[in-house]
Amino acid sequence: MSRSVRLGMFFPWEDAFLVCFVLILALPNTEAWSKEGHVMTCKIAQALLEPQAAEVVRNLLPDYSNGDLSALCTWPDQIRHWHKYQWTSSLHFIDTPDKACTYDYSRDCHDSHGLKGMCVAGAIQNFTTQLSHYKHGSSDRRYNMTEALLFLSHFMGDIHQPLHVGFTSDEGGNTVDLRWFKHKSNLHHVWDREIILTAAAELYGKDMDLLQKHIQKNLTHGTWSDDMSLWKDCDDLFACPNKYAAESINLACKWGYKDVSPGATLSDKYFNSRMPIVTKRIAQGGVRLSMILNRVLGNHNQDILVPA
Ligand SMILES: *[C@@H]1O[C@H](CO)[C@@H](O)[C@H](O)[C@H]1NC(C)=O
Ligand SMILES: *[C@@H]1O[C@H](CO)[C@@H](O)[C@H](O)[C@H]1NC(C)=O
Ligand SMILES: *[C@@H]1O[C@H](CO)[C@@H](O)[C@H](O)[C@H]1NC(C)=O
Repeated sequence: MSRSVRLGMFFPWEDAFLVCFVLILALPNTEAWSKEGHVMTCKIAQALLEPQAAEVVRNLLPDYSNGDLSALCTWPDQIRHWHKYQWTSSLHFIDTPDKACTYDYSRDCHDSHGLKGMCVAGAIQNFTTQLSHYKHGSSDRRYNMTEALLFLSHFMGDIHQPLHVGFTSDEGGNTVDLRWFKHKSNLHHVWDREIILTAAAELYGKDMDLLQKHIQKNLTHGTWSDDMSLWKDCDDLFACPNKYAAESINLACKWGYKDVSPGATLSDKYFNSRMPIVTKRIAQGGVRLSMILNRVLGNHNQDILVPA
């Protein structure tokens, strides 16, 4: 006799308790590029820091993080609805014209009131500039360098999530309701989280660290080791976020929106073809975040005097 049958026969309330518990665990998470995606991006980045930049990062992190950047990379999602941080809510994404599949900074990088620069690409420029003054001891006291580090680290993840540069009318896939295998989800959430969770569950025994180690292995000795220098390539730190955003809308059209209509059920075919895109974007976000931090906080010859 199985345990659940026995419980059901003698202690029906215990089954009810179990059902409630499972329902609570299954509540959908509606935040941006999931916790897991941000954590992996930041772990990859921190592992690639050169000694001087690594030290500055450790100094900027609060003690309770134990020097682990990834522990705080989701902070911008936690505070985005607080009154004090309402100004940050448009900094997580870019809305581009429906079906255009292109991104143009002057056309698309603004908040819902049309305020220029208030999008994820503008935010990366902003916090890169703020951090670049830190090393020279010229940082503006209005700005909190710890917050600048956390915002930059988070937004470098977001700009690489293809659906964070999506169509305007469907809010980057948020209003495209569908099923992911058997449960209800939406297209944005599939790219933020479902693909990552399914990959961990199906391929890595639910071990997120193991998934991350495989991504890292592909970077250092695998499929992407030749691509790393190409990904890091950036002549002008101020212009590069626009390149990353353009890549994302291109991937959103080619893989995200492709063959998806509202009400669809996405399963193996979609998962198998999109999973490699998701892991690659996480890797790219991490590599490029380390590139920026090494340049603005490390001991490179400075070629980065970006506009304030
Ligand atoms: C840049 O950051 C400051 C606060 O640190 C904020 O007031 C400003 O709105 C930000 N601008 C953008 C484009 O992110
Ligand atoms: C900087 O921001 C962090 C996170 O909001 C906060 O805990 C810290 O006290 C701030 N530091 C200063 C000097 O205001
Ligand atoms: C690593 O690369 C292999 C070979 O291209 C690929 O099959 C695998 O999915 C990659 N793993 C991850 C986690 O990206």
